[in-house]
Amino acid sequence: LKNEAKDLIQGARDLKTLQDLRVKYLGKKGPITEVLRGMGKLSKEERPVIGQLANDVRASIQEAIDGKQGILENEAIEARLASETIDVTLPGRISSPGNHHPLTAVIEEIEDFFIGLGFSIAEGPEVEKDYYNFEALNLPKDHPARDMQDSFYITEELLLRTHTSPVQARTMEKHKGKGPVKVICPGKVYRRDTDDATHSHQFMQIEGLYVDKNVRLSDLKGILTAFAKKMFGEERQIRLRPSFFPFTEPSVEMDISCFHCNGEGCSVCKRTGWIEILGSGMVHPNVLEMSGFDSKEYTGFAFGMGPERIAMLKYGIDDIRHFYTNDTRFLKQFKRA
Ligand code: PHE
Repeated sequence: LKNEAKDLIQGARDLKTLQDLRVKYLGKKGPITEVLRGMGKLSKEERPVIGQLANDVRASIQEAIDGKQGILENEAIEARLASETIDVTLPGRISSPGNHHPLTAVIEEIEDFFIGLGFSIAEGPEVEKDYYNFEALNLPKDHPARDMQDSFYITEELLLRTHTSPVQARTMEKHKGKGPVKVICPGKVYRRDTDDATHSHQFMQIEGLYVDKNVRLSDLKGILTAFAKKMFGEERQIRLRPSFFPFTEPSVEMDISCFHCNGEGCSVCKRTGWIEILGSGMVHPNVLEMSGFDSKEYTGFAFGMGPERIAMLKYGIDDIRHFYTNDTRFLKQFKRA
């Protein structure tokens, strides 16, 4: 019995087999237990001899199993270590890190410039109340200038905002009549336009608003001049042309000198040497008052620009739809700075 057991134990290939053998030979139903149970039937002389023998057999089987168990456990650990080894000499997998979307890059560049001048960033909802999108901006219901911006209405009182200017009103309300207010507001806007190379029903704007005591048109001009030089190069010149927006008085549009033709005139600037890049003006007293500011004490300027247009001019992109169709051949050309 002892030899038979030892052979089987030596031959065991894994811990499960070994455990089965342990049960088979040493378990409650095993042969040794049976012998020990039958001791009562033996004579006085036989008992110690048989008892001794059974105990010896049991001890040596036990020993064989314990020994084998140690060996198998070691083997299992070795096998695991071997299978979990990392081959540090394998070449890495090259993953594509992606890059900034050109629009994101331009927006961040614009934000950085204004943050550097002490502006902070404000946001507002894209589904906007008619009140903030128009009324609080001096565009009462039935005002003809509402037609300048074809709107997506959701209900009579709710629409997709047509510009980021409602964030002006919302931000001033939050300041409860106390300046300074100095924010830029980037975000998506929506207009009922037919999409083509220069129009999109959804695009982005960055609004700027600076309200304080003694803010003047010359402050607007100074800041926007510095901005144009930062975005388009030191040699850039700007000019302000009179314009009209119901929420600013006076209103101006800003042109920059064309860099595609060095101001000589080309198709990009329609041969004028200048390109329009944003609308702006001094915040209309009605707008200040409606949002809780005393227009005798406070003045301010506001501007609104389209980052798509700025990115198109800066990088020579000829179709606004490139920004939204996510063709990687287009996107890959703009590496993270
Ligand atoms: N909201 C105007 C537009 O979308 C731009 C603008 C903003 C003009 C702020 C003046 C002041 O055309």
